Amino acid sequence: MAQTSAPQTWLITGCSSGFGEEFVRQLRAAGDNVIATGRNASTKLAHLKETGASILDLDVTASPEEITSKMAEAWNLYPDGIDVVVNNAGYILSGAFEELRQEDLETSFKTNFHGPLNITRALLPKLRAKGTGTLFYMSSQAAWHSDPSATAYCSSKFALEGVYPFLFLPAYFSSNGPLKTYNNLGAVECLSKELAIFAPKIKVLLLEPGYFRTQAFSNIRHVPDRVDIYAQFNAGVKQFEQSVVGNEPGDSKKAIEIMIDLVKGTGVAAGKEIIPLRVPLGSDGLERIKAKCRETLKICEDWEEVAKSTDIKPAA
Ligand SMILES: NC(=O)c1ccc[n+]([C@@H]2O[C@H](COP(=O)([O-])OP(=O)(O)OC[C@H]3O[C@@H](n4cnc5c(N)ncnc54)[C@H](OP(=O)(O)O)[C@@H]3O)[C@@H](O)[C@H]2O)c1
Repeated sequence: MAQTSAPQTWLITGCSSGFGEEFVRQLRAAGDNVIATGRNASTKLAHLKETGASILDLDVTASPEEITSKMAEAWNLYPDGIDVVVNNAGYILSGAFEELRQEDLETSFKTNFHGPLNITRALLPKLRAKGTGTLFYMSSQAAWHSDPSATAYCSSKFALEGVYPFLFLPAYFSSNGPLKTYNNLGAVECLSKELAIFAPKIKVLLLEPGYFRTQAFSNIRHVPDRVDIYAQFNAGVKQFEQSVVGNEPGDSKKAIEIMIDLVKGTGVAAGKEIIPLRVPLGSDGLERIKAKCRETLKICEDWEEVAKSTDIKPAA
């Protein structure tokens, strides 16, 4: 990957605290242009004015039309538009599966899934015209494995990363170029593979942090207790969530240093020919992802003969 030393222009969502705020501070200290966005920006991002970042009010759950208009405004703030789009805004909605209603899941998906996708669709034509750029998505180890009470959060991050099989793609490639096999594609993974065809200089990155010391665990929202049998379970979940606050093993400053390196091709990314689409961060998340991979591989091995037995046998 080429090293980028010239100042870049970054647009970042969800900058009031945590990873978003840290991005703004480190990037401004390095001399990059930053468009820091967030809800109720005049008050919630006031503390970032001193950094010299441009401040833009943006609720990522706004309508696609409003997002398109905000992205047009953001693009025109600096002479060369935007180089890096960081889809960072997100939150955890906690609640047992049986207590979640469709509207709860829709609210979670609007922030963690549709928001990033709407922002991407609004900026992609401009980035394609420019020919370069980075689309960055703050995903999670929770895109790989699920925990009790985390249906809303895990499913929104799973959807962002990887659950849409696009079976027609091999046919497209057989008639338009080298045949490749694509399995297990998700929204952002699909996007990255489409851009490899249509705009190969636009990079796509999915970051998968474990538990990091931001406001994420103190900002958890809960669905109301709706089914009696879950009352004790919910109390235990809340107790666990509170016990994590202040004890998260991950250092958000170190994580952001690495994330910036991955985009710029500096530090840990210097000299690397290929930066993978997905990068895990934090020992805890790393172990969960490895365990999920091992578990999935074992299922494939143990059930290989059964899986293959359903193939249509060629006529003798
Ligand atoms: N910290 C972790 O352990 C961890 C691990 C894996 C992934 N992540 C991901 O990292 C990202 C950042 O979270 P964080 O850890 O930095 O937590 P955080 O300190 O709670 O920050 C979350 C940010 O998202 C913003 N946000 C929430 N809903 C929004 C909306 N509708 N529109 C615009 N902004 C919105 C919040 O703004 P308000 O102040 O307005 O609410 C806040 O600025 C999230 O996507 C999260 O899922 C975090």
